[in-house]
Amino acid sequence: MAALRAMLRPRALAPATPLSRSLHSSRAAAGGHATSQHQHTDDNNSQTFFDFTEENYKLVENVLGKYPGNYKQAGIIPLLDLAQRQNGGWLPLAAMDCVAKVVEVPPMRVYEVATFYTMFNREKRGKYFIQLCGTTPCMVCGSEDIKQTIMDELGIHDGETTKDGLFTLLEVECLGACANAPMVQMNDDYYECLTPKTMKELLKLCTDGNPPEMGKWGSLPMNGQISCEGPQGKTSLFDGPPKPAALRTDMFGDPEWKPGAEGSVDPASVKEHMCY
Ligand code: FES
Repeated sequence: MAALRAMLRPRALAPATPLSRSLHSSRAAAGGHATSQHQHTDDNNSQTFFDFTEENYKLVENVLGKYPGNYKQAGIIPLLDLAQRQNGGWLPLAAMDCVAKVVEVPPMRVYEVATFYTMFNREKRGKYFIQLCGTTPCMVCGSEDIKQTIMDELGIHDGETTKDGLFTLLEVECLGACANAPMVQMNDDYYECLTPKTMKELLKLCTDGNPPEMGKWGSLPMNGQISCEGPQGKTSLFDGPPKPAALRTDMFGDPEWKPGAEGSVDPASVKEHMCY
């Protein structure tokens, strides 16, 4: 009977442990933000105005045109991305509300998406948003030296923005370019095979307003190599991908197809395909 009473007794709440506190306030839990909750600031409060420009409303129509009229909410991610680009790389509350209005859902549906995906920044970012990969392959190849170089050159720490609003630094987890570690993502672009020296050069070029152009494959190894080719050049994968069951006739219908052949999608033109 005592055991039964014990089972029925409301369970006392466990005191918050340092671990649970740190999880709730960690960057990982908040998707790279200091907190997952919105805090009013001078430039991000209930009075802040945001609306798409006339030009971007054409892109909004373009995006929504890809989905059935009764599934407008399918456009939340591309529209948040568009709003973020229009707003200089971050999303104030007003921008999320605007997207909710456009796709005709309650604002909470849009907040849920914006707080889940780390590609959406809910705090102001510098013109060059540096996401430095600190995961194991990059770490063993020197990402900590790269991070120290950035901090020394810019006078900021992880998560901070320079006073002139030019750079924000954020250490993140694997960005999927481990073969060319260590690397950083700066805005949309990947700079790979970095050394402290090339990192300094990259920062200088950005400060001068001339960030280097991406290579053909949408990234730039800073040691001069092509894509993921090592010092010996290309040693494997000489053929195009195997032909799956007649899906993409433009790429796969032709047995002679090679990457980069006419009709294939050039990774460097993805933005164009995404209507940016
Ligand atoms: S570990 Fe750095 S890109 Fe994967």
